[in-house]
Amino acid sequence: MEDLGLNSRAGLPQELRVLADLYPRDLWRGHANFTGMTAFWLDRHGLFRELSAKLVEQAQVQLVTPNARFIPEMARYASFLLNQLHTHHSVEDHHYFPRLQVLDSRIEHAFALLDGDHHTLDGQLQALADAANHAIRSEADKDATAALLQAEDRLQRFLDRHLADEENVVVPLILEYAPDLE
Ligand SMILES: [Fe+2]
Ligand SMILES: [Fe+2]
Repeated sequence: MEDLGLNSRAGLPQELRVLADLYPRDLWRGHANFTGMTAFWLDRHGLFRELSAKLVEQAQVQLVTPNARFIPEMARYASFLLNQLHTHHSVEDHHYFPRLQVLDSRIEHAFALLDGDHHTLDGQLQALADAANHAIRSEADKDATAALLQAEDRLQRFLDRHLADEENVVVPLILEYAPDLE
């Protein structure tokens, strides 16, 4: 059976794309059921993509050209990303997903997949926090910075996969059924 874990899948399996195929991404924002809240939610995803990319870039630069501002800047970005992602996942798990997963039985099990992603990401967020704390304690020596970069890179890859797949489940559901999510 196909492994749909966040670590190994390359996208949503075909059976979970029944609505995604009806609503291609470039039509989302012009659709009548595309709400301000949907735009806000997608913008949060954009912010997470930017922050995780920024962290990777900072550590890559630090390994070549060490900079005294690296630790405070990394700590600020990392703690902001960690806090915001925890809040975001908890709103999805407790507020949005229970309302969305009852809308279409054909893609109901997509929410088990997304919930599994959140658990996998929890482990990676913890790994990022540990690596960031270690880098701070060691005053960003080369080994600690390299280990931090590895944790950031891993998180960025899995986060990108999760966000794209989650968007391809959630936005088409909203466009098709116009649920009240307030
Ligand atoms: Fe999520
Ligand atoms: Fe999300």
